[in-house]
Amino acid sequence: MYVQADRDARKPVTVPRLREMKAKGEKIVALTCYDAAFAVHLETAGVDIALVGDSLGMVVQGRSSTLPVTLDEMIYHTAMVARGISSALLIADLPFMTYRNPEIALESSARLIASGAAMVKLEGGDAWTLEAIEALTAHDVPVCAHLGLTPQSVHKLGGYRMQGKGEDAAARLREQAQAVAQTGAELLVLESVPAALAAQITREIPIATIGIGAGRDCDGQVLVLYDMLGITPGKRPKFSRDFLGGSESIAAAIAAYVGDVRAGKFPADENILG
Ligand code: KIV
Repeated sequence: MYVQADRDARKPVTVPRLREMKAKGEKIVALTCYDAAFAVHLETAGVDIALVGDSLGMVVQGRSSTLPVTLDEMIYHTAMVARGISSALLIADLPFMTYRNPEIALESSARLIASGAAMVKLEGGDAWTLEAIEALTAHDVPVCAHLGLTPQSVHKLGGYRMQGKGEDAAARLREQAQAVAQTGAELLVLESVPAALAAQITREIPIATIGIGAGRDCDGQVLVLYDMLGITPGKRPKFSRDFLGGSESIAAAIAAYVGDVRAGKFPADENILG
């Protein structure tokens, strides 16, 4: 069991701290998390961001996409994670259709924040998403944007495949990254985009980028917890690594991930998508 005093020793990771980490070139370590027990492990290992991702629909609930995840389910998991977190920044995903207009985005986010989130994450960079970001930031709700492979758009994208390939797609992604930052987002997740493009966006925008399948030059990295512990059935994505495989415990595996991201050793060449 964890010792409360140890957990309380770390300074809280705040929105200004994320900006400071980007400015100083300190790598930001994020992991998804879905319950209190794992949250304590993340906290103890010194993870900066615990993301209650709607990936829980796939890795916890066994669904084939994130689309059926409800706001009530996100609230349930966010409240559990909040009980295990003391200093990491807790981000919760707004699930599919719960931010389709600014008013609904405000109501959905209020419920996530009341359950313990310090920031909400939403997918996409189109005009309607920017309106939601604008409304949320105007009401002091910190927002993490998510571009590239946005799983809530899986039917439009035609599958879970890399985005931003080719000149036009890359230019569009760069424009969207600028737009979400200018509209007030504090953080940007880049999922499954070419490493060079993610590096360029990271240089171009003032907010920190967190990559998953986006090379090693983002300001930070995130993985799905169950993937990096080798719990998810089936083939592990190339951009992930089984950290539990080479470790003697879950605590050691998460600590190894934190150490490798901070030292720039993860992702390694074999985790970079072509
Ligand atoms: O839902 C999720 O876990 C996510 C991460 C993959 C970034 O959005």
